[in-house]
Amino acid sequence: ALASVAAALLVILALWNLLILRTSSSSSRPPFPLFPAVRIVLVESIPEGLEFNSSTAHPSIFQSWINLMSEARSSLDIASFYWTLTNEDTGTREPTADQGEAVLSRLAELSGKLAVRIAVNTPQGRQPRADLRLLNDSGAHIRTVNMKELTSGVLHTKFWVVDQKHIYIGSANMDWRSLTQVKELGAVVYNCSCLAADLSKIFEAYWFLGESQSIPSPWPKSFSTMYNKDTPLLVPLNNTPSRVYLSSSPPSLCAAGRTPDLQSIFSVMEDAERFIYVAVMNYLPTMEFAHPKRYWADIDTQLRRAAYERRVRVRLLISCWNNTQPVMFPFLKSLASVYDPKNKLDIQVRLFVVPATPEQREIPFARVNHNKYMVTDKTAYIGTSNWSGDYFVNTAGSALVISQTSAESTVQSQLKAVFERDWNSDYSVPLTQHSNLKDLCNL
Ligand SMILES: *[C@@H]1O[C@H](CO)[C@@H](O)[C@H](O)[C@H]1NC(C)=O
Ligand SMILES: *[C@@H]1O[C@H](CO)[C@@H](O)[C@H](O)[C@H]1NC(C)=O
Ligand SMILES: *[C@@H]1O[C@H](CO)[C@@H](O)[C@H](O)[C@H]1NC(C)=O
Ligand SMILES: *[C@@H]1O[C@H](CO)[C@@H](O)[C@H](O)[C@H]1NC(C)=O
Ligand SMILES: *[C@@H]1O[C@H](CO)[C@@H](O)[C@H](O)[C@H]1NC(C)=O
Repeated sequence: ALASVAAALLVILALWNLLILRTSSSSSRPPFPLFPAVRIVLVESIPEGLEFNSSTAHPSIFQSWINLMSEARSSLDIASFYWTLTNEDTGTREPTADQGEAVLSRLAELSGKLAVRIAVNTPQGRQPRADLRLLNDSGAHIRTVNMKELTSGVLHTKFWVVDQKHIYIGSANMDWRSLTQVKELGAVVYNCSCLAADLSKIFEAYWFLGESQSIPSPWPKSFSTMYNKDTPLLVPLNNTPSRVYLSSSPPSLCAAGRTPDLQSIFSVMEDAERFIYVAVMNYLPTMEFAHPKRYWADIDTQLRRAAYERRVRVRLLISCWNNTQPVMFPFLKSLASVYDPKNKLDIQVRLFVVPATPEQREIPFARVNHNKYMVTDKTAYIGTSNWSGDYFVNTAGSALVISQTSAESTVQSQLKAVFERDWNSDYSVPLTQHSNLKDLCNL
């Protein structure tokens, strides 16, 4: 009997040891990460026919939208500029509209089952309304935001919030061409309720404006945020410690605590120590839609300052297509002239041209690099705005700003790889003082 008691004691001791060991090892390394599944994924639309000699590739925006819709259990909020998801909308007969059409029919299906809300810039003139009508008839709640009346701008934002948990933000419009014929870049963040709740506040502001048709000043407290450039949200994204916040424009739409989009661009530029890479469709140091004409060099000045004062390497990858305003080029040439290796001045500009077959040329407003991001050695900035004054002064847009400190595969290094892939590809051409734009841009 004594022997069996001793044996039992031994077993208990062994178990105790095991438990203690477990606990002590877990104090240095938790048995499970605190946020198991907070993930960020860069997503891209690569126009039909574009091929890169590069292993840099990301899931498609189409696939990410389909994923988000299949994750959705209770709600889906979409902030949007305009809707043309079908061939009918654009008067085309393109097989590549199939992805947009699939997104629309899936959205219509969801609209009958969950709370689907859409904030959209008030359609102007002959802008198609068929998609919105279909979604409304399917049970979605739609509000039009008359930014023209409110700020003389447009609602240019493009983002999704799913179940107050997952988000998408990026350059793609609710347009079939944004999935197969226009080059786009965005990000999806899964399982990040804090960030989703914060983006919801921006959505709620649009939703509010859709009803009130006037801008509150100040905004009620429920729209204010704790997360901004000075006190970002601290969260592990892909198991990497990250500092994250959302910026918004124009300033009149920013509730207390929100960093205006232009301030976030300045802050990202100021923090850069080695390089600033910018990929945007349009770059103009003007208020491009202002009459009479107005010069607006806020961003231009910051780029020149970073290059001159801190010897930061600056690269701009700008789009060139059928609808580019020719006035963009003298200003870009001016920036590109700030290049003198002897004096460590290093601003370079390249133009990205998406080639088109004769059939693709027939598609209106397609075959262009529509990206709107910036990456530095410190930060990734993924936005929805063209870079000219209007977009920061009176147009509604927003951006996701992320800084990760780990040396591992960070969002910054992924975004930098995208930039370098495009910069070094055959689709981009250096802009020099002698560049012949007619030849460069296939105009
Ligand atoms: C969200 O996290 C849960 C676990 O907490 C995981 O099962 C799920 O797959 C995650 N969702 C996504 C879309 O990553
Ligand atoms: C949306 O549907 C409702 C009926 O459910 C209708 O009264 C309203 O006019 C529709 N709105 C639009 C924009 O089609
Ligand atoms: C440019 O646009 C016009 C009208 O939008 C179109 O007729 C023409 O084919 C386009 N040219 C090219 C090179 O894409
Ligand atoms: C960006 O700028 C272009 C040219 O000024 C403008 O037509 C367009 O509306 C802006 N982007 C988008 C997605 O609308
Ligand atoms: C890819 O590499 C091939 C062979 O070097 C070259 O002919 C082609 O132009 C390259 N394409 C791009 C997009 O850089």
